[in-house]
Amino acid sequence: MTVVEVGARDGLQNERRSVPAAEKIAFIDLLSRSGLRCIEVTSFVSPKAIPQLADAQEVFAGITKVPGVRYPVLVPNAKGYERARACGADAIAVFTAASEAFTQRNINMSVEKSIAVFSAVVERAKRDGVWVRGYVSTAFGSPFGDAVTPEMVRDVCVRLFTLGCDEISVGDTIGVGVPTQVEAMVPLLAREIPLERLAFHFHDTRGTALANIYAALQAGVAIFDASAGGLGGCPYAPGATGNVGTEDVLYMLERMGVETGVDVDAVRAASRAIRSSIDHELTSKAFQAMEAAQARETASR
Ligand code: COA
Ligand code: ZN
Repeated sequence: MTVVEVGARDGLQNERRSVPAAEKIAFIDLLSRSGLRCIEVTSFVSPKAIPQLADAQEVFAGITKVPGVRYPVLVPNAKGYERARACGADAIAVFTAASEAFTQRNINMSVEKSIAVFSAVVERAKRDGVWVRGYVSTAFGSPFGDAVTPEMVRDVCVRLFTLGCDEISVGDTIGVGVPTQVEAMVPLLAREIPLERLAFHFHDTRGTALANIYAALQAGVAIFDASAGGLGGCPYAPGATGNVGTEDVLYMLERMGVETGVDVDAVRAASRAIRSSIDHELTSKAFQAMEAAQARETASR
């Protein structure tokens, strides 16, 4: 079971407060010591689109890369690819969506155009020996009300996979999906893409993320995205709240006897560090429970 940590990117891109690069670096360095094997660092996107991640270069160059940990960065086009490569990135993520309206607002392209842009990016990446993840957002619904069907999701996933993506992450960007939908979607995708190449990316907007992970797990999925403390959202998805909390996922899996190799206390230490950089409490329930238990313990001493 692999947990892909997306807090530094998906989380921080949606924070009102811009977090200084040094604090992002400290956060990521703590995460690197937790046993996580894949930590998304930042995005080489337009700083006008995502001002929170305008310091991508500084952050990527500043983190201490632990051997055996993969550090992907988001890349929306050739310019992003070149910026990422210039500071030494060897893993990228390209991103499109099932929803046409969302894709248009998020990256100012149609889904069709995004596939064409990524086709060139992935081709270069493959030549350069760069690992590539492909995101398909809004897989369970669009914030703009346009219809998304499982077949649309499958088609976009297959197109990204065919371009040469090593892994496909299917995202419930606005947190509307429920377990029965997940149960139906996994076999549809698994007919076209090997299960070990499929990840799911749930947001906990309506409290269904862990139930969805459980459903995907039962269906054979082994890679899940999560963000420390439950940081997260998407600035182009109004009302989207955080990713499912890494601590929540780790708590559940650990108690179920599922190996992840990640030390939840080390992730919690990273969450604590980033909490002081943002302007609200962290939403991960497991994080909150661990903090409360520790406060009780301290008080009783
Ligand atoms: N990095 C830095 N700057 C970039 C860039 C990149 N990867 N891609 C484009 N730009 C700059 C251009 O140089 C240009 O700058 P200028 O105005 O100073 O000349 C400007 O951005 C517009 O470029 P253009 O190619 O016309 O892009 P666009 O305005 O159509 O925007 C994207 C397209 C993809 C660059 C932009 O929508 C984007 O970065 N989106 C990312 C959204 C995101 O990260 N969402 C979160 C994931 S859910
Ligand atoms: Zn997300």
